Parts: sequence; structure tokens; C-alpha cells
Amino acid sequence: MSDYSNEINRRRTFAIISHPDAGKTTLTEKFLLYGGAINLAGSVKGKATARHAVSDWMEIEKERGISVTSSVLQFEYNDKCINILDTPGHQDFSEDTYRTLMAADSAVMVIDASKGVEAQTRKLFKVCGMRGIPIFTFINKLDRDANDTFELLDEIEKELGIATCPINWPIGCGKTFKGVYDRQKEEIITYSDTQKGTKEGETKVIPIGNKEEVLNAIGEERSSVLYDEIELLDGASAEYDLEEVRNGKLTPVFFGSALTNFGVETFLQYFLEMTTTPLPRRSGEELIDPNEHDFSAFVFKIQANMNKAHRDRVAFMRICSGRFDANMEVKHVQGGKVMRLSQPQQIMADERKILSEAYAGDIIGVFDPGIFSIGDTICMPKENIQYEGIPTFAPEHFARVRQLDTMKRKQFVKGITQIAQEGAIQIFQEYNTGLEEIIVGVVGVLQFDVLKYRLENEYNVEIRLEPLPYEHIRWIVSKDTDIDHLTGTSDMKKIKDLKDNPLLLFINAWSVGMTLDRNPGLELSEFGNISTPSLK
Ligand code: G4P
Repeated sequence: MSDYSNEINRRRTFAIISHPDAGKTTLTEKFLLYGGAINLAGSVKGKATARHAVSDWMEIEKERGISVTSSVLQFEYNDKCINILDTPGHQDFSEDTYRTLMAADSAVMVIDASKGVEAQTRKLFKVCGMRGIPIFTFINKLDRDANDTFELLDEIEKELGIATCPINWPIGCGKTFKGVYDRQKEEIITYSDTQKGTKEGETKVIPIGNKEEVLNAIGEERSSVLYDEIELLDGASAEYDLEEVRNGKLTPVFFGSALTNFGVETFLQYFLEMTTTPLPRRSGEELIDPNEHDFSAFVFKIQANMNKAHRDRVAFMRICSGRFDANMEVKHVQGGKVMRLSQPQQIMADERKILSEAYAGDIIGVFDPGIFSIGDTICMPKENIQYEGIPTFAPEHFARVRQLDTMKRKQFVKGITQIAQEGAIQIFQEYNTGLEEIIVGVVGVLQFDVLKYRLENEYNVEIRLEPLPYEHIRWIVSKDTDIDHLTGTSDMKKIKDLKDNPLLLFINAWSVGMTLDRNPGLELSEFGNISTPSLK
């Protein structure tokens, strides 16, 4: 045990995942409010950055400083040091959104009670599921009309394939929302709508056995429904099992209303108890324990500055073990160089500060002179650590890139390759046609605009993007597949990545299944990297 293991063990690093508008920003603001990181909720990020249309993109990028700083938030609560990783949503949904999940030790899934499981939640959940990290569910907006509670849980179980265990239970919803029943403490907490931005207001806590007081507080009809539901729940729902939660097999479910600040602090308290301290990570055959090893980290995100004059980049690293000291010499494993990390910074609420030390669980951003790539490991010079890479996530939008001035081929290739290295886009080529044309794939459509804008502004190259109809990409993982004689569907297209790995594009999901049926032994994967980070 290191002498700073106290610092490491009080860290909790998690991402919040949700479909746009479910209340992720509002919930984050309330967390920060409890942590005292902000005085008034509402100042986490301007609405302009929170949601925007594609046409606003350039404005947003001008304010990129803001979006960088709001991507990791650190605050203290009850002697815990909490790191929240923001997963960009809306139009700026991109591979970065997925990669951020690689840096988290657990995830909070926010669901709108009137909408249930939505598309983006489903996608993000898949990545969390792949890593087997604990997932906590906050069902939000109970102050509005909500879907049936049992149906909501059923939907999570069926759609996401994870067992649910309600820790509390809502009493009514919308105009008749009366509060929640805490199943562990066996008491009800009555609803109080407090002003946006203030801490939780006057609520009453009544033991469920005190029937008279319960009746007075929530009325006859509600209490009779509640007693029935409690009975039903105790018989039907999964038992709370911390081991199952930690393995990502069971999600504890909480109900509340982020906007009116009801149930948020209770959620935070339970969550901090149930979630994990910084998890060990795999390097080859070895599990690197955060406490047993000196400093090590991996790069999960690279953000280029849009300022043409200074093409500087910030590399975001997740510290996996030990203590980071700004003065120490570290080894960049992939580059084979020993160096000091330049301008290390930590992100506090809405400001950046240069930091002198940080611990396993923390995220630091360092100046990157163009040497780091996503997935790279940094460790002490004497150590031999190389963390498993970050997978390439399946793009869902594709376009053929036409270069308008063919004389500028060199700049074009340089620009598009550099942008691909940052991980904003993925580039592919035609398979065996001898054509040099480039096909670009992105996770979120905004990346097309980013690519066009950056090639023009940073590399002086104009391009035209011709959208392609494909939505599904699969890497071929079976070794003995004869690509040339694959029996595909009529909508299938063969391409290759820059390492000459063959891939298949499909217009619809049905064709993926059909192609698998027609080619026994064919194995396809949605993730492009053979080394998928795992925790166990
Ligand atoms: P997001 O980050 O997940 O995209 O969601 P965000 O927090 O921005 O919330 C989306 C909208 O839902 C906002 O309303 C927000 O006020 C509202 N909201 C969040 N939590 C709750 C809740 O518990 N109850 C209710 N009734 N509404 C909630 P908006 O009108 O789009 O924005 P604003 O003008 O209110 O800020």
C-alpha cells in the first residue's frame, strides 16, 4: 500500500450517460451544488454549448475552451473526491462520447420517466456493458407524468439486458407525485418542490410502519397503491447484491426529479457508497492495481485547438495508478521517450487550473505537441506497463470524400490523416479496386462538418462530401475468411481500413445477419480493435 492510498481510495470517477434532454446537465448541476463547486445550479455550461444545431457549430468551436473545460468536472462531497466525465450528446455525439466511457469506473444512466430507454442511452449502454462496469440508473422527471414504474423497469431489463433493483420507489407522478419510498430504510420521503438551484427543501421522512402518518402525508388512494406495490416488489424484483452491481449485472434504480431537486442528494449518497474506488486495469497479462503501482495513465481523448495560429492539442489522460507529480519524468511507452508532461491541468467546474499533483482516478489534460495517440500509455521510466488499447467504435454515417483541387493531394492526405489520428473520423479505402478514393466514417454527423471546416481552415484544402447510404460497419475477425469469395447481400460493400484490414458496409442490419448466415465460419465485430479494454 502506498502512503497516498487514502487519496486514491476516496476517488470516484464516473460518466453520466443519457439520451439528449433526459436531464443529464440538470443532474450534474445539482451534484455540483451539493459538492459546493458552484453556488447556483445552472452555471455548469451555457445552454449554447449544451445544445446547438449543426449550423451553430463554428460558433461553438470558437468557444471550444468552454467545451473542453466542461468535459471533466471534479468536486468534493463528504470527503470523497468525485470526477464526473461528460459524455457529449446531441449533434456533437461522436467517438469521443464512447471513449470517455473507457476512462470511467462506473456510469450513471439518466432516463426520462415519460420516455423510457431511448436510442442514445441504448448505444452508450452497450459500451458500458462491454466493459462490465457498474451502472446506476436515475429515473428522472417524476414531477411530470411518467410511464408505469413496473413497465419502466421491465423495459430496462428487456432492452438493455441488465437486471434492475429499485432502491427507492416513486409514489405517484406528475401532479400527484408525493415522494419516494426508500426500500432499504423502509421509510417514505415526501416530495417537496424547491426552487431551481436551491438545495433540497422541506421533506418529511416517515417510517412505512407508521400507517397513520403515511396516510396523512400521501392520502388514502396513494398509500393503498404503495403498500400493494411494496409487497409486489419484495416478491418480484431482484435482490440487491453489491457483487452483481460491481460486475455490471444489476443496476440499482433510483427515482427523482433533478429539476425540482428531489431525490438527488439521496441518490448521490447511495451511489457513492455502492460504486467503486478506481479500478485496476489490464496491461498484458497483469492487472495494474491503482495502489500498488507508481504513476501510470492512458490517453483517452485528444482535443485539437481550433486556433489556426497555434495548432496545439490537449491530450486527456486517465490516471490508472499511483500519484502524478508535475515535476516528475515519465515514459511515453508508444513513443519510447522519457519526458515531463507539459502544462498539466485539472478541470474544476468551469475553470482550468495548472496542477502540481493528481492521483489514480483523476483525469488530467496535458499539452500535446503532436506525439500522443488515443490509447497510449504513460508510466514511470522503470515500469513496463502498456494498457490495452481503446477500441474503434463503429461509425454509423459514411461519405465519399472528393477533393476539389487535385493538385493539393499532399496537403489533403496530411490533413485527413492527422484528423483521423485525433480520432474524430475514421478513414477507409475501396477494397481492391485500385482507386485512391477515401471513404470517411463518423459516429456523429457533426464530424462531417468538422472535417470539412478543418481541412479548409487548417490545411487549405476544399472537399466535397458525398453521403453514402450505409449505416452498419463490421470488421471481419475470422482469420480464414476468403474475402474475395464472400457471399454477401446486394447492399453490401467491401472496404479496407488504413492497415489493410477488410471491412464490410451494409445499409441495413438485416443484411448483416443474412451475410453471416450465408458464410459459415464468418465472424464480424462492431469494434475495430482486437484489444478491448476489460477490467477483469
Ligand atoms: P440533457 O443534459 O440530458 O440534454 O438535459 P437537460 O438537463 O438540459 O434537461 C433537458 C430539459 O429537461 C430542460 O428543460 C430541463 O430543465 C428539463 N428537466 C431536467 N430535469 C427535469 C426534471 O426532473 N423535471 C422536469 N419537469 N424537467 C426537467 P428545457 O425547457 O429544455 O430547458 P430550460 O429552459 O428549463 O433550462
